[in-house]
Amino acid sequence: MSQLKRTLMLATPVLASVCAMVLWNSQVQADSPAEDEAFPLATHDLLPHPSGRHVAFGRVDPNEIIEQPIQYSHMLHAGTLNIQCEYCHTMARKSIHAGVPPTETCMGCHKVVDATDRPELEKLKGYWERGEEIPWVKVHDLPDFVYFNHKRHVTAGVQCEECHGQVKETMTVAQRVSSLNMGWCLECHKTHPSVDENYGAQAELRRAEMKDCYTCHK
Ligand code: HEC
Ligand code: HEC
Ligand code: HEC
Ligand code: HEC
Ligand code: HEC
Repeated sequence: MSQLKRTLMLATPVLASVCAMVLWNSQVQADSPAEDEAFPLATHDLLPHPSGRHVAFGRVDPNEIIEQPIQYSHMLHAGTLNIQCEYCHTMARKSIHAGVPPTETCMGCHKVVDATDRPELEKLKGYWERGEEIPWVKVHDLPDFVYFNHKRHVTAGVQCEECHGQVKETMTVAQRVSSLNMGWCLECHKTHPSVDENYGAQAELRRAEMKDCYTCHK
């Protein structure tokens, strides 16, 4: 099938919903809380996670504070102790998902750090002794109809910080700093300097590919 035909086939239902959204937008102002409830344009939080945990769906609210089971600190570990991001998020360079570390990664050090009278470390030890994984709550979660791949971005030279913010300078548990909406993806695809560096004379062609609907909606 030609690329164009494939794009059109994909785009038809997608375009219909875009039109519906535009129509809807012309009738309501998305900012008022009441209308947000009817159609949450700014934040999707439509599907409760099967576990009952609170998981955002799609575009996210960067101001929302998510409670984690342990008050782990990125500032301390990635900042003060200078542990590299990829020591814990081992898959970022290799896979679609960056992944959150198993308890074993923590215990490599925490078997020897004294946990007495330190409730957060006692919790960590508890999970380890019971043989349970720590039930970290997912902070970022794109809807399933979007294709995103860490490996392609990280190996192209896009830094974690460009998408996740000043993790080691300012964050205890991770927060969202980017909207993760489509405009955010497209804006960077249009402007990121690595494309010129990595593709040279082919850069414009690559940029055209990077805004094709099929790149992100397979
Ligand atoms: C490379 C070693 C190392 C790894 C890996 C590591 N930590 Fe730590 N962690 C430390 C050190 C060192 C401290 C500071 C201990 C101190 O202040 O005495 C610390 C402190 C902590 C504290 C703060 C304790 C307090 O009361 O202030 C928590 C909670 C914690 N770590 C959780 C974790 C979790 C969860 C993981 C795995 C995701 C992890 N750590 C991985 C070395 C590590
Ligand atoms: C181009 C932007 C971008 C870059 C660069 C990037 N991330 Fe991500 N990251 C995302 C997006 C978007 C998600 C949500 C993915 C999803 O829900 O499918 C995410 C999710 C994650 C998650 C949650 C688990 C997962 O894989 O879904 C972790 C952990 C993470 N990123 C860590 C990192 C680390 C560490 C780096 C650097 C080595 C990095 N990211 C680089 C955009 C980026
Ligand atoms: C010692 C291990 C460790 C190191 C080092 C580390 N992280 Fe994390 N990271 C975690 C843990 C544990 C979580 C889950 C708790 C949370 O969300 O804060 C996490 C969560 C995240 C998330 C959110 C994942 C989600 O659910 O969407 C991002 C993004 C992230 N880390 C980025 C980074 C970046 C960027 C660095 C380097 C500057 C880094 N991390 C260094 C252990 C680590
Ligand atoms: C900070 C900049 C930046 C942001 C934000 C960003 N990207 Fe990218 N993206 C890139 C760059 C640079 C490339 C080109 C990588 C290459 O080919 O060298 C790329 C390439 C891609 C590709 C092509 C991979 C392939 O296999 O051809 C996909 C898919 C993609 N991005 C999806 C997304 C999605 C979805 C989002 C938003 C959730 C997003 N990107 C946000 C910089 C970004
Ligand atoms: C670089 C990646 C990327 C490209 C290219 C892209 N999209 Fe998206 N799209 C996204 C992301 C991420 C979302 C989910 C976030 C959101 O809802 O804004 C999304 C969401 C959507 C939605 C659902 C909006 C909603 O509110 O539920 C539609 C419809 C859509 N895209 C249509 C298109 C069409 C048509 C094209 C081609 C002209 C296209 N997209 C190209 C990343 C992309």
